Amino acid sequence: MMTIKETLSAYAQAFNARLSEFFPLSNLPENRVVEAMKYSVMNGGKRMRPFLVNETGSLFGLDFEKTLRTAVALECLHSYSLIHDDLPAMDNDDLRRGKPTCHKAFDEATAILAGDGLLTYAFEILSDARTASADIRCELIAKLSSGAGALGGMVAGQMLDIYAEDNPKQTSETIIKRIEEMKTGRLISFACEAGAILGQASDAERQKLLEYSRGIGVAFQIADDILDVEGDPKLVGKTLNKDAAQGKMTFVSLYGLDKAKQIEKELVEKAQEALSSFGAKAENLRLLASYIIERKN
Ligand code: IPE
Ligand code: IPE
Ligand code: MG
Ligand code: MG
Ligand code: MG
Repeated sequence: MMTIKETLSAYAQAFNARLSEFFPLSNLPENRVVEAMKYSVMNGGKRMRPFLVNETGSLFGLDFEKTLRTAVALECLHSYSLIHDDLPAMDNDDLRRGKPTCHKAFDEATAILAGDGLLTYAFEILSDARTASADIRCELIAKLSSGAGALGGMVAGQMLDIYAEDNPKQTSETIIKRIEEMKTGRLISFACEAGAILGQASDAERQKLLEYSRGIGVAFQIADDILDVEGDPKLVGKTLNKDAAQGKMTFVSLYGLDKAKQIEKELVEKAQEALSSFGAKAENLRLLASYIIERKN
């Protein structure tokens, strides 16, 4: 039997083959921005969010193709968030997914534009008639834009992350929790809700998936914060020990490693409990929840 790590990487391989078709290159001078977008997207991400769209969709009988365009849109949006997160004015990182960050491989202006291009492209892909019926497309667009946006979404979380870095004394446990929920949790929630929307799940089913997503979303970011301290740089593919150096406020800075590990474990267990009504069909989602805190990258 395959481990969940192998299942995820098999999905990533199939996904990558289709993803690259979304970035046709040309000889036009403005092609540079598409090249930078493609460079940042096609570079060995784990594809956990696309996998979540696929797995939650499969609970309602959807296959790889039926969830693909939504999964691609989400990965474009996620990759934009990483390009901008790495910019000198944000986290100022040189390494991403084991390669130079977009602004290092290209230049800062191109990286800003590549992020803009990926953000916009996500909605171009979703709004296309090939994605789903008009009602479903509208709902996906509404949920992804609010999950990614400044009113309680990913951008709000990124703003609060910077605020906390600048105002450590004003940063309470509640604020740190909101940072993790918004900057990382909201896109992960979209990934799970998207499968429910595409699969026309009942309200009760959707609520269960959202409950699951909230647990794994925060656990995922806590695991990221722990990897920053004790990960293997060759596996993580990012410069480590940066959070403390930059004064980032995380569960690790607040509680230390041991308590942070206990919190993520509790979150994963609760997330798994939320899946009980789905039975055996949700086994990959259960395994993924555990993998999120065991992962080495
Ligand atoms: C990194 O996300 C940014 C966070 C939200 C912690 P991932 O760890 O999913 O990065 P990739 O896509 O696999 O590179
Ligand atoms: C970023 O969190 C989350 C995003 C919305 C991009 P981090 O700043 O901790 O992510 P990494 O460690 O750079 O991947
Ligand atoms: Mg950051
Ligand atoms: Mg960062
Ligand atoms: Mg991090």
